[in-house]
Amino acid sequence: MLKDLVESNVFVLNAADVQVIVDARTDMVPRIVHWGAPLGLASTSDLEAFADATVPQIASNSVDTTVPFSILPDASRGWAGAPGIEGHRAGADFAIQLTLRRADMAPSDDPRVSSRLRIVLGDADLELDVVILIDALTSGLFRLRASITNSAAMPYTVDALRLGLPVPSRAEEILDFAGRHMREAQAQRHSLTVGTHAREGRRGRTGHDASLLYAVGTPGFGFRHGEVWAVQTAWSGNHRTFVERQTNGRTVLGGEEILLAGEMVLAAGDTYESPWVYASHGSGIDAVGSRFHAHLRARARARTTPRPVVLNTWEAVYFDHNPAALFALAEKAAAVGVERFVLDDGWFVGRRSKQAGLGDWTVDRTVWPEGLGPLAEHVRGLGMEFGLWFEPEMINPNSDAARAHPEWIMSPAHRQPPTSRYQQVLDLQNPEAFAHVRDAIARLVRELDLAFIKWDHNRDLIDAAHEGRAGVHGQTVALYRLLDELHAEFPDLEIESCSSGGARADLEVLERADRIWASDCIDAHERQRIDLWSSVTVPPELLGSHIGSDIAHATRRRHRLSYRAMTALMSNLGIEWDLREASESDLEELKGWVDYYKSVRSLLHTGTVVRGDHPDPALTIRGVVAEDLSEGLFSVAAVATSVGAPPGAVILPGLDVSARYAVSPATAAEGTMQYNEHSLPSWWASGLTTTGAALAVAGIQLPALAPDNAVLIRATRIAEEIA
Ligand code: GLA
Repeated sequence: MLKDLVESNVFVLNAADVQVIVDARTDMVPRIVHWGAPLGLASTSDLEAFADATVPQIASNSVDTTVPFSILPDASRGWAGAPGIEGHRAGADFAIQLTLRRADMAPSDDPRVSSRLRIVLGDADLELDVVILIDALTSGLFRLRASITNSAAMPYTVDALRLGLPVPSRAEEILDFAGRHMREAQAQRHSLTVGTHAREGRRGRTGHDASLLYAVGTPGFGFRHGEVWAVQTAWSGNHRTFVERQTNGRTVLGGEEILLAGEMVLAAGDTYESPWVYASHGSGIDAVGSRFHAHLRARARARTTPRPVVLNTWEAVYFDHNPAALFALAEKAAAVGVERFVLDDGWFVGRRSKQAGLGDWTVDRTVWPEGLGPLAEHVRGLGMEFGLWFEPEMINPNSDAARAHPEWIMSPAHRQPPTSRYQQVLDLQNPEAFAHVRDAIARLVRELDLAFIKWDHNRDLIDAAHEGRAGVHGQTVALYRLLDELHAEFPDLEIESCSSGGARADLEVLERADRIWASDCIDAHERQRIDLWSSVTVPPELLGSHIGSDIAHATRRRHRLSYRAMTALMSNLGIEWDLREASESDLEELKGWVDYYKSVRSLLHTGTVVRGDHPDPALTIRGVVAEDLSEGLFSVAAVATSVGAPPGAVILPGLDVSARYAVSPATAAEGTMQYNEHSLPSWWASGLTTTGAALAVAGIQLPALAPDNAVLIRATRIAEEIA
């Protein structure tokens, strides 16, 4: 591996097998001259020659010097795309021109940072100081962040601070994600043409429609092939991620926080810091995604204990809280092997429906006359942990809190925003409101010895003001502070990030969360696709996926238990089903699946996630391969009838190409996989021995699956090596 070279001010940053080269030899904002595979440029002169060779020629009818593309694109030097900084002082001082003061390797106290380049810039005339950090991370990711400080007496308004990385013109396709409540992570693909394709989140939360992976790549790139460059703007508030291509092919992939009008006014000495923009490069989507997994798995708060089987009460009882029923549900849960019992919405004062109660975080004694202590004790007595649902950032106008403190509602002075789910947003920048929720949560964590909080956030922010000014940035920062304070006090407390399902699953919230709730839709048919794509940036152990009742509440589709179980167990398995209504045979089968999950979770939650490319759109192919390549578990599901009968060979990727594997169907419950009996491949009954290369390159035939069915395949390395 190359060392970071500093002598010549051409910096080489290496993150695993990815390289970024930064040219900081002029007094301008430095340029990233390469982001991709290592170039093998070892000497200073090689690096300088390469950096020189990337400087574009002067274009006709252009400024008379070359127009550099820098990390903060520099309008003052003729860059005609979106500028890196937009701001002003009461309309003046808009024409910022940064000059380089220093670029050096700097320390970081985050052990995931293998090297950090710090670039210090300023505009002396406008009295503005800027620092850019570029981190090479041990996971193979890079991340960039900028901050701007106003050193003048007069306030400076920041409208945008926009970071970009260059991608080559051979990237001709975009993969990004749309989504909505109950249908997150909808992949969309299109050409990368001249112009800007921007994905904006103006919902005050990350958003169901957030593109947590914004990828561009060579034509036809797939899970396992093609060169891919991807970013995520890691922010739980308003944000924008974009690719911008100019007519000459110069292309920027970047991200920023969207700052609302007047939201970021820097008084003398104040600093605004942008979110991190994470950047991943690799061969295929899997390689790009696995770097996000490695990064999250290396968090200080990453849990090493087995990821427990959860029972969540929401779809079992909704708001119908009845202590006897919930005691009985806990007993059923324990009997099938559940390890964490989570009491969802409906336990606090006045919360008999979604129309009231948010903000009043004390137990409703009309429903729970003795409080929640007896339930928590009962759950623990059954050998399970106890968890509780909160929606801390919200307030129902119909609540004691709102009646006593109407000023806690985020709103402009002259009117209230429309309610959504009958609720408004609690102003966490109001110190009293902040203390109210923090103290209420802390008290219940202590009193009930909570192991887990499901932390929800169920509406968009509209006209969200603090003291009359746009307040989304401040609310987002306050949320992070609230989570940080609770973690400092309760280091073992686990938190699930939920936002009407999967609307808050970005890397910045995941610095403070231990699980995400991927979707309110737990129909296995939908979850095959939602979980497949959600797991590109979120590793399976952090992705909550539940077995619901036989008729899915979100869609009314009916699925057999085996399909529901095989779908959910590839993530962090949970159950969201009124088990009091389940038949004895269902409970027995469910226990089998829970046991099976427990037997494979150490593989699923530490291994490398792989997905298979297949021309048949009906098939969803995902798997996990052990880090030492000794084994793999693959799930192949048909979400529709296949194009071919049977479909062509299925690739099971990621194993050691030079090793032999024993391959066999894997299942917890005999006879639970449904396929066309006339269409079984010859190897199915007795298993197969073949090479990792055969599985990855050519693939094998699988049973033709009826729609909404899956098979699990296990591959185990055989000791002998190929001669
Ligand atoms: C949101 C969550 C659900 C559930 C309900 C409770 O919709 O996504 O899982 O917790 O709130 O009101």
